[in-house]
Amino acid sequence: MKILVVGGGGREHAIVTALSKSKRVDKLYCVPGNAGIEELAECAPIGVMEFDKIAMYALEKQVDMVVVGPDDPLVAGLVDVLETAGLKVFGPDKKAAILEGSKAFSKDLMKKYNIPTAKYEVFEDSVKAVEFLNECSFPIVLKADGLALGKGVLICKDYDEAVAGIHEIMDDKKFGSAGNKMVIEEFMTGREVSVLSFTDGKTIKIMTSAQDHKRAKDNDEGLNTGGMGTFSPSPFYTKEVDEFCHKYIYQATVDAMRSEDREFKGIIFFGLMITKDGPKVLEYNARFGDPEAQVVITRMKNDIVDVFEACIDGHLENIDLQFEDNAAVCVILASDGYPVAYEKGKEIRGLENFKGKDGYYCFHAGSKKVDDKIVTNGGRVLGITAIGSDLKEARKNAYAACEWVDFDNKYMRHDIGKAIDEA
Ligand code: AMP
Ligand code: GLY
Repeated sequence: MKILVVGGGGREHAIVTALSKSKRVDKLYCVPGNAGIEELAECAPIGVMEFDKIAMYALEKQVDMVVVGPDDPLVAGLVDVLETAGLKVFGPDKKAAILEGSKAFSKDLMKKYNIPTAKYEVFEDSVKAVEFLNECSFPIVLKADGLALGKGVLICKDYDEAVAGIHEIMDDKKFGSAGNKMVIEEFMTGREVSVLSFTDGKTIKIMTSAQDHKRAKDNDEGLNTGGMGTFSPSPFYTKEVDEFCHKYIYQATVDAMRSEDREFKGIIFFGLMITKDGPKVLEYNARFGDPEAQVVITRMKNDIVDVFEACIDGHLENIDLQFEDNAAVCVILASDGYPVAYEKGKEIRGLENFKGKDGYYCFHAGSKKVDDKIVTNGGRVLGITAIGSDLKEARKNAYAACEWVDFDNKYMRHDIGKAIDEA
């Protein structure tokens, strides 16, 4: 088969790596890709929002399947454009991707179908939102309705902060049109766990659990980022939690989407908070997480093409989804200064150290080939991922491998997976 992957981050490098191991794949393409992906797939400089160009490229290369990685093109309807062009696509269409694209939609869905989540209200007007604060206790959570690069959530400790936050989102449009509507939500405490799943619209199969570290600095200090590292499985995702989520969350979400005539095919990512009253949904995403994909896909036993195909064709019930009984840790090597201001174009040295090392992966996120050198080209540069027999070993391996590569202004957190010690 010939397969095209859309995207150019660490998540897509992990997807392309898994596809490259499939016996069913003859040739891989990726748009736009990056310097790491280029070693496995033919890349073309087409942006993920250039829908017509992507469709033309896929038709020209006569690909048998397209896999869409990032949220923006999914929410904006890339799958619909490709399907209309007669292509077979892995990922939700626009009607279904609203599960991630609108927080107001997803909260209303959960309320209507009794899926556990935090109490909330939706507002389209900042005056009404501010008035509502009189009924709230603090801290309180403000969320821009639309996509905001993972930054549209504000946790406000008191009334004054919340008023300022509402103005930022709805009046100053800090997150653009994502702030035309907003959700005000009860603050929950507990452990966060990410659970990714495959669904064909009817059947849902759960992948192994993972956990992200979103803050830029050690001990969860500093600004929110796209994710500074992940580990899998999460020791906080117990059998009890799993049973609860199967009973009240997973299938209920898939069925709710079908009842709304928004059949969801692809990946549903459940952001869960394990509260003292049981697990509740923090958010849904309509794709693999980045960098959750790096620690989940690397532990998957199945041929990923079989799973993608079963989701598209509607026979996921026949797939026995299996994961290795081991663990993985991914540490992001970033450019110092991320997520605010940082320099790019620094030469990355030592990439060859990963060649032939089983259980070690150097997933590229922001990298670019310039002449015969590979240089940094983003805030998150590499996702150094290692397998171990358990989380402690995986963490030790990942941090050791972080020393195999180097570039000027290299920055990482040193406590990825440290919570494991407290489990
Ligand atoms: P989201 O994009 O909805 O996952 O929110 C980003 C992050 O904000 C989550 O990973 C949580 O750490 C935090 N968060 C979101 N909603 C809540 C909530 N209701 N209570 C506490 N923390 C939250
Ligand atoms: N790592 C979080 C996300 O991909 O949304």
